[in-house]
Amino acid sequence: PKLTPYIDPLPIPKKIDVSVGKHVIGAYRITQKLHSHLPPTTLYAYGTSQKTATYPGPTLEAIRNKPAHIRWENHIHDAETFLITDRSIHWANPKRGGVPIVTHLHGGELESAYDGHPEAWFTASGEKGKKFVTQNYTYPNSQPATLLWYHDHTVGITRNNVLAGLAGLYILRSPSEDPKHLPSGDYEIPLVIQDKQFWANGSINFPDVGDSPANHPNWCPEYFGDTILVNGKVWPYLNVYPAKYRFRMLNGANARFFNLTLSEPSLKFIQIGTDGGFLPFSLTRPYLLIGPAYRLDLIIDFSKIAPGTKIYLNNSASAPFPAGDDAFVPRISSVLEFRVLRKPSKLRIPFTSVPKSFVPVPRPYYNLKKNVHRRLTLTEADDLDGNPLFSLLDNRRWEDPVTEKPKLGSVEVWDIINLTPDAHPIHLHLIQFLLLQQQEFNQTLYELEDVNGGAGCSLSQSFGHPKSCFIEAPRGPSHEQVGWKDTVIVYPSTVTRLWTKWTTREGKPFSFDATSGPGYVWHCHILDHEDNDMMRPLKVVR
Ligand code: C2O
Ligand code: CU
Repeated sequence: PKLTPYIDPLPIPKKIDVSVGKHVIGAYRITQKLHSHLPPTTLYAYGTSQKTATYPGPTLEAIRNKPAHIRWENHIHDAETFLITDRSIHWANPKRGGVPIVTHLHGGELESAYDGHPEAWFTASGEKGKKFVTQNYTYPNSQPATLLWYHDHTVGITRNNVLAGLAGLYILRSPSEDPKHLPSGDYEIPLVIQDKQFWANGSINFPDVGDSPANHPNWCPEYFGDTILVNGKVWPYLNVYPAKYRFRMLNGANARFFNLTLSEPSLKFIQIGTDGGFLPFSLTRPYLLIGPAYRLDLIIDFSKIAPGTKIYLNNSASAPFPAGDDAFVPRISSVLEFRVLRKPSKLRIPFTSVPKSFVPVPRPYYNLKKNVHRRLTLTEADDLDGNPLFSLLDNRRWEDPVTEKPKLGSVEVWDIINLTPDAHPIHLHLIQFLLLQQQEFNQTLYELEDVNGGAGCSLSQSFGHPKSCFIEAPRGPSHEQVGWKDTVIVYPSTVTRLWTKWTTREGKPFSFDATSGPGYVWHCHILDHEDNDMMRPLKVVR
């Protein structure tokens, strides 16, 4: 259906203070209006009860160093997920049926029993995956303040469950460390950006025929919708006063990247934070490139904008990114409308200010001879007709034995070598890392190496060496990749070098045993890739 943009107000998900007490959050099957002109949509959603469950789920508000206790429940009684399950890929496959779920707190620093391991799923009838430990999770909240998000992580159906609605925000605050005068209350707005496609009856249009049906009857390499939802509404509008606003933004899409701009040329984004927390310095930016799972902490200052003005948040990223063709997947340019209202004479806009500097980031020291140096490829396998079959990390399947086993307290350098034509948002659980450098190489020459017995080139030779594959000197992090990150865009034909330290960011031991339990994972955050083998176990060892 054709849906008119900007006729529904932006919803703000309900907040739950998880800094005190114990909380129970369940997953339910609900229906919800996602646009005025669309019949109610069937969804799976998080909430404290069937009545209060919403898509996106409630925003959980936590305080640094106050552990949050959450019991996750599954109240979805469907015999199977309403978005078709592809049984040809490895998936939870509960013997008694039902819809398995398991919730991961993305970006959270916590022990693996509470990490939402993909095999730690459980169904409403009580069947459990082989890595299940408990439904009662403790989040220590010992890491610096930032925006995290929680979402389903069940093996093989994460894309279905997240698209169905199982996602919400988790704001970690640090009252003693957070800058005092940032916009807050009504002036702090969460923005969960996702895409979906619908049938005329309101249900989600999720393809049930795969690109390579002989191999994977239903799995498609990337889900792209034709509408953009913000906080669960298709193309909503937001009324703002001439004031500064703080936006806590998440790209919660299955596969879509966004390159966001503001239609008002005098307005710029002021970025103050990223996945892991505040940046060292605020950045004034004309555009924001955000991969799936990226979070941004932003200020937009509407105070000089004339009342009555409408300002558009627009997108220009192609799908897939960066090489998608509009003839196959049209770009969607509209996202959100800001309507600047006249300030009512009675209203007092609280004083706000944006500091120039926040939290310094350490100099990431490393030595390639002494630190563990991993070289991990991203590859894609196609069927005989050239249709994607699956993607791999380091040429290994999900089920292969764990190979990434960082030592507690150590620094490891991870070189991610992208041999596919697409950008992939690579995500590591447990820690936040720093991007050291990105460097493009000649992939054709690199792939000739084997065939020509050395006539090609090598990625172990640095740029300038006659045998080097690199076509440029290493580049420092681009603006969208600065600061502490848990997800990073790895561009095609590029080596992306990450500095990973297996301690807290202050360099101290974790407050919990990171070596116990079912372990962690790292994966591509294009959920369709993650579900089909672009995910690997990760075990922290002593
Ligand atoms: Cu947001 Cu392993 O995921
Ligand atoms: Cu990917």
